[in-house]
Amino acid sequence: MGMTHSMHTHTCGELRRDQIGQEVTLTGWVWHRRDHGGLIFVDLRDREGVTQISFDPEHSGGEAFHIAETIRPEWPLKVTGVVRERPEGMNNPKLATGDIEVLIDHIEVLNTSKTPPFQIEDHMDTAEDVRLRYRYLDIRRPHMMSNLKLRSDFTFAIRDALHNRAFMEVETPALFKSTPEGARDFLVPSRTQPGHFYALPQSPQLLKQLLMVGGVERYYQVAKCFRDEDLRADRQPEFTQVDIEMSFVDQNDVMSELEDVLASAFAKVGVDMPTPLRRLSYWDAMDTYGTDKPDTRYDMKLHEVTSIFTDSKFKLFAGAASTEGQYVKALNAKGAGTWPRAQIDKLADVAAGFGAKGLAWIAFREDGSINSPIVKFFSDEEMAALREEMDVVPGDLVMFAVADRLTADTILGGMRCHMADALDVPREGHDFLWVVDFPLFHWDDDTKRYEAEHQPFTLPTETDVEKIKADPLAAGSATYDFVMDGYEAGGGGMRIHNAQMQLEMLELMGFTEEDARDKFGFLMDALEYGAPPMGGFALGLDRVCMLLAGEDSIREVMAFPKTSSGSDLMSDAPGEVTSKQLKEVGLRLL
Ligand code: AMO
Repeated sequence: MGMTHSMHTHTCGELRRDQIGQEVTLTGWVWHRRDHGGLIFVDLRDREGVTQISFDPEHSGGEAFHIAETIRPEWPLKVTGVVRERPEGMNNPKLATGDIEVLIDHIEVLNTSKTPPFQIEDHMDTAEDVRLRYRYLDIRRPHMMSNLKLRSDFTFAIRDALHNRAFMEVETPALFKSTPEGARDFLVPSRTQPGHFYALPQSPQLLKQLLMVGGVERYYQVAKCFRDEDLRADRQPEFTQVDIEMSFVDQNDVMSELEDVLASAFAKVGVDMPTPLRRLSYWDAMDTYGTDKPDTRYDMKLHEVTSIFTDSKFKLFAGAASTEGQYVKALNAKGAGTWPRAQIDKLADVAAGFGAKGLAWIAFREDGSINSPIVKFFSDEEMAALREEMDVVPGDLVMFAVADRLTADTILGGMRCHMADALDVPREGHDFLWVVDFPLFHWDDDTKRYEAEHQPFTLPTETDVEKIKADPLAAGSATYDFVMDGYEAGGGGMRIHNAQMQLEMLELMGFTEEDARDKFGFLMDALEYGAPPMGGFALGLDRVCMLLAGEDSIREVMAFPKTSSGSDLMSDAPGEVTSKQLKEVGLRLL
């Protein structure tokens, strides 16, 4: 590949029939060693692949052979020999180098190795904490290596796409000021100013807006972000965004530019993302799929059935039908209607996890009978209307949620995902879409405040600006989330570029002018110096790579991830520090 390398002539993934007869030098680790009829065969592995090398006691006085007798798995070697065709019937079509082997003349043992705590093989059930403790060995596994390679390729591709479109990469500080972005900050004590703290950025949000004020016009950064929040499979305390911002643009400009960039980057890793992407409004997504990040590779849509039950004898449904803001919604999980009663009963606990107080259901058995605790209250008309609306056939399980709109959506959205997994509903290929027009605020019961749904700098929907003060929850925002395979893979929006409007929004969120100036003075100041219209986006690089790699945790595409309690098992971080270090930054432990 045009690389010069001081120690080897080829990689372990490179040799083919073309090189038969050539003398080559390889470096790599001993993977498997087989002793066969007086010969020793070794699979020599490096990051590019594996090559079979062979040692013959009759060859070159047997010197290499005798050394080969001593070598153990995971020792690094340097070997020189001549490429030859494998004997008839010994080819390995599964291996790129499977037609050849290298008969070794000279071997140099570069180091020895202790026996690894687990086998360096793919598809082994090794406990994750052991993998993380010895991550450097885990990375030797071809599968992990290919995940890291995929991540590198995709990151390069998206940088390339952005660079080609005149985006400029600008680095922003990791030591910055604590600014609310929804999560808790990681704090860094200052030595030079005891009692003062930097915060690690939750994202470069404010800084990129300032870069727009600075005239950068098209910015991007592959940026580390830090959020001290509870961890899940798709969340880490430090993660990477491909952060993007543009100025002198409207929302459609930003979204179509992003589509081009994403499609181009995905194409480079062999994934077709057809553009323009479908756009679903936030409320359509919620009402139809019960989530703002729907996986639309399968159907199982939510249906509102409130009006069917207006006069029902089933009081729960009739009560909702006669109450403003209450809904009866239903979901049909095809195939679950054959489940035994005990299995169906367990679904109530699952639904409770999504906020349900109980779970009403109807199982349509294969033999045409119906099993359900509630149908005895239904009239024939109600049943017929329900069957029609829910497209019922034998084998279906219809579940209901009765609640306010958002709660009913959320319960059934959760059940939709749960049932898709439980029923092993096929989800092939990738699914890309935008969810747009998020509400500007939601009401937070803990803080008793309107909180920004995306973040406090988001531009309200133009037509809603007049009404915001009267009814903050009804206001929409110029926002868009990029949804991939049922995950929020990215998000962004247009920004407020008017200082007065920014202040008013912060006041609605409960900030006094003084608080607002204290926290965001530098932003408010900047907005007063000719800030241009702007908008942008951040792609969750870890999540996208996880989905591209077909993994279900972002840890599988990160070299050194943390555990769910936030530790690095290899180095034992977070660790204690000396009292001298604490004193230097003016801290004492409680
Ligand atoms: P947001 O907070 O939506 O937006 O983050 C953007 C994307 O980053 C990913 N992400 C995470 N990935 C792994 N671990 C985490 N803890 C984590 N948190 C978020 C998600 C998410 O969609 N400044 C705005 C973007 C903008 O408006 O331009 C922001 O940070 O994939």
